This record gives sequence, structure tokens and C-alpha cells, in this order.
Amino acid sequence: MGIVNIGIVGSGGTARHHIERFSQMDTAKVVAIASRNAQTGTALAEKYGVEFVPDWQALVRRSDLDGIVICTHNDSHGEIAIAALRCDKHVFTEYPLARSIGEGETAVALAQANQRVLRVSHSEAVSHSHNAIKQRVPELGDLLLTAFLRLTPGRGARPEILFNLPVSGPPAHFFIYHIYPMIDLFGNVAWVEGGAVYEGLTDQGGYNRFANTVNVGFKSGGIGQWTWAGGIEIREAEQHLRYVLTGGTISHSGGKWYCSTGLGMAEIPPIDAPSISLQELWVGEIQNQETSAAHRDAATALEAIRVSLSAEQSMRENRRVVLA
Ligand SMILES: NC(=O)c1ccc[n+]([C@@H]2O[C@H](COP(=O)([O-])OP(=O)(O)OC[C@H]3O[C@@H](n4cnc5c(N)ncnc54)[C@H](OP(=O)(O)O)[C@@H]3O)[C@@H](O)[C@H]2O)c1
Repeated sequence: MGIVNIGIVGSGGTARHHIERFSQMDTAKVVAIASRNAQTGTALAEKYGVEFVPDWQALVRRSDLDGIVICTHNDSHGEIAIAALRCDKHVFTEYPLARSIGEGETAVALAQANQRVLRVSHSEAVSHSHNAIKQRVPELGDLLLTAFLRLTPGRGARPEILFNLPVSGPPAHFFIYHIYPMIDLFGNVAWVEGGAVYEGLTDQGGYNRFANTVNVGFKSGGIGQWTWAGGIEIREAEQHLRYVLTGGTISHSGGKWYCSTGLGMAEIPPIDAPSISLQELWVGEIQNQETSAAHRDAATALEAIRVSLSAEQSMRENRRVVLA
């Protein structure tokens, strides 16, 4: 295949980021933008000299497009991905893959059945640090514990979207980018327990602050824990991450990764390879009709939403959710 022709859905911050990236590539061409927001949609389309289409359903049906890039809010990713895959398009979607497990499963199954490249915007596929850790983990024995803690002050740039249960899901869902890497490293999950408290929760699903925990047992053994408290009274954000294995503990500090054992601590340097963006990876896979790595990563993205949405179910039903 020659140049990959792309349609983008959404015209906010992430759409601007993607169109800029794709417009710098000579292997891809953005042909049209669809957005429910005619003002920002038209402005973005005009800036990049592409067509504006008001409705995404019309965009995904077009025969002059090879791939669809989804940059809408979390509540519509799954629906748009499924519609695009049903129209035989390749799909690059912002995380989370979907706001329901059923939609995520349908999207992954369609991509596999139709041999389409479905990529979710988890950057681990092109992260040389993550891939160095992935090489190192098997040498460190069995997982005992993964522990992630994040404390975030303020309410973020757009609280009406992020701090909104129907649109973004529970915090474990909009922070899915911290669940994905642990699933990629340690595999699928046997059970999930979630807990959350919201301050100022309204009937419309908005809230002011939250504390959210997710605990899992990995099928291969070991426990995973994620804790976030957001919108809280703290001067600066704090983040703490550890992978505790029987042969050593991996930690992240000052932008670097380290492995510590009884003998001392050493940096885990990123693997030595040329850099490639996720957009370049997706376009290259479409051109080469190479779907196997994308299918594997999409299955990981599906397991990650299974964890976050099962945590939501666990909170609702006040019980441990056991996964098949
Ligand atoms: N990969 C990353 O690093 C990263 C970073 C930030 C965000 N994200 C993800 O990217 C996605 C978009 O975030 P953003 O910051 O770009 O949001 P944003 O600035 O609000 O832009 C979202 C765009 O999609 C449109 N839209 C939303 N729902 C739609 C629907 N159902 N149908 C058609 N158009 C729809 C919005 O229209 P309106 O203007 O009318 O709302 C807006 O144009 C989110 O899922 C977010 O979690 C990823």
C-alpha cells in the first residue's frame, strides 16, 4: 500500500496533536476531520487544508479512507471503533479502548476477523524504557507485588470531562494508562477488587475529588495495587511505583528506572533502538499488512479495560469480581 489516507474524529487537544504528527509523515495523509463541534472542527480542518465532515458515521463509511483516528471522549471510543472496523477501516483510538467490556471485545474480535490494525494509544509499544523492563522482568523471578500510588492536586484542566462518571468512567478507567503497562508485563488477571469515594458527586455523575483503589491478583501469581486520589489538598503531585519480584525490585525515579537487589541498585537503561512514534508504527503496520503485534497489544488494552471496569463493578456490587 502507498500513502495511508486517514480520517480523524474529534477536534480537541488530542486531535490537534495527532493531525500535527500525521501531517509531518510522508507515508500518511489526513483527508478529513469529523466533529460534533463545528467551530473547532472547521478551524482545525482549515488549518491543515482538509475537509470537515459534521458526522463521524459518514466519515467511517467513506471509501477513500484507509484508517480512522478516534480522539473523542471516552464514552464514544468503543462505538466509533466498532463502526469503523465494520466498514473495514484500520483504527487508532485514544485510550480507553471502550467504556464497556462488551464493546472492547467486539472491537478486538472485528480487528482480528477482518485483519485490520487496531491500535490503542498506549505508548508502551514504542517505549524503549518499558521494553527494557519487559526484557528484564523474566530474569527477576516471580512477581510478588506491583504498587502504584498517585496523589494529584487541583482538578485538572477539564474537570467536567475527566471527573465525570458517565463520560470518563471511574478514575481507574481514565487512568487506564497506568494499568496497561502492568498487564503488559505480568499478564492477565484472576480477580479484581475496587473501591472509590467521591466528594461532591452529582446526579449527572460529576464530582470534585476522589480516592480510588484497585487491587488485583494476577493469574500467574502476585498482587497488583493502584491508588489514586485526585483534586486533593496537596502542594505538588506525588507518584510512587514499584514492581517487587522475588529476585529484585524495579522502581521509577527522576525519569529513570532502577533495579534494586540485596547487592545494590543499578539503572535499567532504555533499549538501544531508533525512536518511532505510535502514529508511525500504526501507519507502517497498515502499509505492511502486519497485524500480529497490534492484535496482541489490543488484547492487552482489552484486559486493561476489563480490570478497570471490573473494579467499577466491584465497587457497585461491593464484592470481589472473579474473571473467567
Ligand atoms: N494519549 C494521550 O496522551 C491523551 C492525552 C489527553 C487525552 N487523551 C484522551 O483523548 C481523548 C480526547 O481528549 P481531548 O483532551 O482531546 O478532549 P477534547 O479537547 O474535549 O476534544 C474531544 C473532541 O471530541 C469531540 N467529541 C467528544 N465526544 C464526541 C462524540 N460522541 N461524537 C463526536 N465528537 C465528539 C469533542 O466535541 P465538543 O467540543 O463538542 O466536546 C471535541 O472536539 C480522551 O479520551 C482522552 O482521555 C489522551
